[in-house]
Amino acid sequence: MRQVLIAGGAGFIGAHLVRAILARGDRVTVIDNFQTGRREALDGLKVAVIEHDLVQPLRTAPGRFDLVFNLACPASPRHYQANPLGTLRCNFVGTDSLLSLALSSGARMVQASTSEVYGDPEVHPQPEGYPGSVNPTGPRACYDEGKRAAETLCAEYHRQHGLDVRMARIFNTYGPGMISGDGRAVPAFIAAALEGREIPVQGTGKQTRSLCYVSDTVAGLLALADGEGLAGEVFNIGNPDEITILKLASAVASACGRPDLAIRFEAAAVDDPRRRCPDIGKAQRVLNWAPRIGLEDGLRRTVAAFRESARLMASVS
Ligand SMILES: NC(=O)c1ccc[n+]([C@@H]2O[C@H](COP(=O)([O-])OP(=O)(O)OC[C@H]3O[C@@H](n4cnc5c(N)ncnc54)[C@H](O)[C@@H]3O)[C@@H](O)[C@H]2O)c1
Repeated sequence: MRQVLIAGGAGFIGAHLVRAILARGDRVTVIDNFQTGRREALDGLKVAVIEHDLVQPLRTAPGRFDLVFNLACPASPRHYQANPLGTLRCNFVGTDSLLSLALSSGARMVQASTSEVYGDPEVHPQPEGYPGSVNPTGPRACYDEGKRAAETLCAEYHRQHGLDVRMARIFNTYGPGMISGDGRAVPAFIAAALEGREIPVQGTGKQTRSLCYVSDTVAGLLALADGEGLAGEVFNIGNPDEITILKLASAVASACGRPDLAIRFEAAAVDDPRRRCPDIGKAQRVLNWAPRIGLEDGLRRTVAAFRESARLMASVS
């Protein structure tokens, strides 16, 4: 039985990862400040929870671990732009603390990085070797540059200290457990469709995204954690099925049984990437990983979970 630390384990992807690791028979400790994570996400699970803001130093070591995952960082623009300096510090100070903890524990670490390190890419699809095109002073930079600096920290802990740290550049992930008000496209579209409102699309809707169902993302993180000889390596984890936001809006409306709903166009987000699609050749070749859940199936499962949580909310109110 391995001891696994998951920073950000109460968040959307983190809570799915916690379940997957518990199912393997390992022991899980979660560190989270519950900024965007929910305590209920861990209800009924046998996990140790340490409430801590990783912007603050870890004064006492929370234990010894074999494996550390760092998912601690708000992922939706609405949340990470609410406190941009906090986002930067979380990515720099928090990642530094966890790397140092992994080093002193003799643990392997997996860093949750992001496709946002590619910024508004000029290369399509994006391979891991593409260094990116990020506006360092724009409103997304606290996240994009924070994650880039976190990758640099990981690379230097590997080069200077020999730490076995691997980086996952996660592309847009969706699924049950997302918060409907967090501003991300899938939950915003589902919430609108289930309430019979127009679907709110930012910009022209011609921008593209590639959406990965959460169980596929988690399987990718586990494959990355398990592989041998991957210290210092970076992998794209995402689904290369690229779709325009307009087509996504109509797929969500159909999955909710409301293909009749109109689109409401809103102002485009500043520095919003125009195209986004992972080259997953390296993950397929080295990790033997590829996503399995198609968009229609993934949306069906996600909409069912949103309906169920709306039903539960209605029954307690
Ligand atoms: N969801 C995606 O589409 C996506 C895409 C690319 C990368 N990622 C990365 O994956 C990770 C998880 O994403 P998510 O969608 O689950 O996000 P999320 O916002 O749902 O979860 C983040 C978790 O980290 C915790 N957290 C935030 N700041 C913290 C701090 N200072 N100290 C301790 N805990 C803190 C939050 O409370 C939450 O539990 C993030 O690092 C994100 O950048 C996610």
